[in-house]
Amino acid sequence: MALLEIKNLSIGIKRKKEMLTAVDTISLNIEEGEITGLAGESGCGKSLSALSIPRLLPREAEITGGEILFQGDKNKAPLNMAALDEKELCRIRGKDISMIFQEPRLSLNPLQRIGTQIAEVLTVHGLSGKKESRAAALEMLNKLGLNKSQNIFEAYPHQLSGGMCQRVMIAIAAICRPKLLIADEPTTALDEKIQNQILELLAGINGETGAAVLFISHDLSLVRRFCRRFLVMYAGKIVEGGNAGDIFTHAVHPYTRGLIGAIPGKEQRGKALANIPGKVPSIEDRLPGCPFAPRCPLAQEKCREAFPPKTDLGNGRFVHCFFAEEHPHE
Ligand SMILES: Nc1ncnc2c1ncn2[C@@H]1O[C@H](COP(=O)(O)OP(=O)(O)OP(=O)(O)O)[C@@H](O)[C@H]1O
Ligand SMILES: [Mg+2]
Repeated sequence: MALLEIKNLSIGIKRKKEMLTAVDTISLNIEEGEITGLAGESGCGKSLSALSIPRLLPREAEITGGEILFQGDKNKAPLNMAALDEKELCRIRGKDISMIFQEPRLSLNPLQRIGTQIAEVLTVHGLSGKKESRAAALEMLNKLGLNKSQNIFEAYPHQLSGGMCQRVMIAIAAICRPKLLIADEPTTALDEKIQNQILELLAGINGETGAAVLFISHDLSLVRRFCRRFLVMYAGKIVEGGNAGDIFTHAVHPYTRGLIGAIPGKEQRGKALANIPGKVPSIEDRLPGCPFAPRCPLAQEKCREAFPPKTDLGNGRFVHCFFAEEHPHE
């Protein structure tokens, strides 16, 4: 099996007595060592999907169906992350699956020196003693190309820039050599030069340790440069997926075509796509059928009745659209 297989995963949001569906029966695979991009407009469910993997969902959210199978150890049966208890999850988080976020400062402890925070990941997981962990943490900072790594080791988070903090988060995320590193908009808050450096670091870690990366971004130009596989999410559904190069040259789903046509940057965050009128329906306003139908130039009656089944396009590519044949992908 793949490193990670998500099968029919649904995530609900509790609102008063109701449970609203935010992520709706999605399935996806992440192969060992592969960089997979996940894109879609704001509110489509990218972060909830990502957070559900190490089971870090916010209190209001809950897995309401499906499986998250993680094959961290090939000699053992895969673990269903969706069914593990907190103790088992703590063993996996930060060690086999780690995560970095848009706002690194929020994930760092403001009262603890950087070096201690990196070293602690190793000691908490019992991977090395205190002294060796500190040495490994310093070595990791060196490896990440941080000048004056000793100073950074001794520093507190508020003494570092946003870009530096994100490198530190990458050090924390990578020090145990995880099998899967989830990066949710890791560069959105950073300027372009630092953004590139952070992406190079992630690519370097992927190359060196073979960690698979799930890279979530609004910025399709980053997905295009950085990812081998690409998944497109719209209003709680994955609508298209496959080899990134193939999708960027021959996208099939009208939503993917619109996204690529617009290549939204961070300045467009939350705004409508220039070439697709309308916006993502909120979770209160989701209708049956294909959620993209109200914005879709191809939509017909059947699109409003049922979500289109998966059409397999070969070579690991798939799309959920009744009109898949109208856009030859080769
Ligand atoms: N903590 C929460 N409380 C209530 N509703 C939430 C919460 N988190 C997410 N949601 C709902 O789930 C939907 C999907 O949220 P999610 O954060 O996964 O979107 P996203 O694709 O990551 O968007 P963005 O690109 O803005 O980060 C949101 O539109 C919101 O309605
Ligand atoms: Mg998000």
